[in-house]
Amino acid sequence: MAPMTSPTAELEPFPKTHLLGIGDLSPPDIDILLDRSDAWADRNALPDNKHAILRGRTQINLFFEASTRTQSSFEIAGKRLGADVMNMSVASSSVNKGETLLDTAVTLNAMRPDLIVVRHHGSGAVELLARKVANCAVVNAGDGSHEHPTQALLDALTIRRRKGRIAGLKMAICGDIAHSRVARSNILLLTALGAQVNVVGPATLMPPAVERMGVSVFGDMDSGIADADVVMMLRLQRERMSGMYVPSSREFFHYYGLNARRLALAAPDALVMHPGPMNRGVEIDSDVADGVQSVIREQVEMGVAVRMAVLEALSQNQARDNREPGR
Ligand code: NCD
Repeated sequence: MAPMTSPTAELEPFPKTHLLGIGDLSPPDIDILLDRSDAWADRNALPDNKHAILRGRTQINLFFEASTRTQSSFEIAGKRLGADVMNMSVASSSVNKGETLLDTAVTLNAMRPDLIVVRHHGSGAVELLARKVANCAVVNAGDGSHEHPTQALLDALTIRRRKGRIAGLKMAICGDIAHSRVARSNILLLTALGAQVNVVGPATLMPPAVERMGVSVFGDMDSGIADADVVMMLRLQRERMSGMYVPSSREFFHYYGLNARRLALAAPDALVMHPGPMNRGVEIDSDVADGVQSVIREQVEMGVAVRMAVLEALSQNQARDNREPGR
């Protein structure tokens, strides 16, 4: 097992109890998490990836929504740090959501976990849970169409390691912006760190007044991605749509799919990103998804580093909180 010392030992602590959304963070808070994630990404590239930093801590992954990559990423992150990780998948029920959540909080408190990672279909549900748990750090792994902070952090880490900065970059986030917590968290993070963000998609898939978030809105994909340094594609979140938002997948691909011709309009060294799961032939062409400009696989790798950084940082605070009486 690798030694107890962490690659983040010399870095600034993260000053929060929970990670509920990028909207709660200041630019320095974001930088702290990115610096700590960067250190873990370097450390993960070395042999011997098992650490004892979270030994004796219990991490519960509470997923009310199906997830493969996010849940396994949090699981690997916790296990690499030596935590005892338990996965709780809760079948989603549309009735009495509030009551179910509060019951869950009571059950969880009785199990005395140190860290809870929550994904829930209701926007705001994770924050509600965070208010009801005792002596435990809560991480939002995606709540409805609201936020998915670790996804935005892993995207930013991928960009920062490739481009050396975020400030001044031209970003195009394309597709179903309205239903995407990934888009929301990314817009908050990237604008906070000084990137210029274009959102691209049909009017039916734009949240109302999205321009108030400091982005430029484009209905035409060719203009929206022109000269972009990063093109981030998003899936049509059909499970969050009631009714028809796009005529057909074929038509969507025709107007908003990323293919080689369109990608050529972006900067020559533009990065292609996608949080997954991808729908090849709907929002992205296979050639582009697997092409030389794609960093999609790297995003997954950075995801583990970010989650290790977040779990470690929050558990350090918790150790401090518990030492201080009356908190
Ligand atoms: C995203 C999510 O669940 O919000 N995926 C992910 O976390 N990897 C995006 C999506 O579902 O399209």
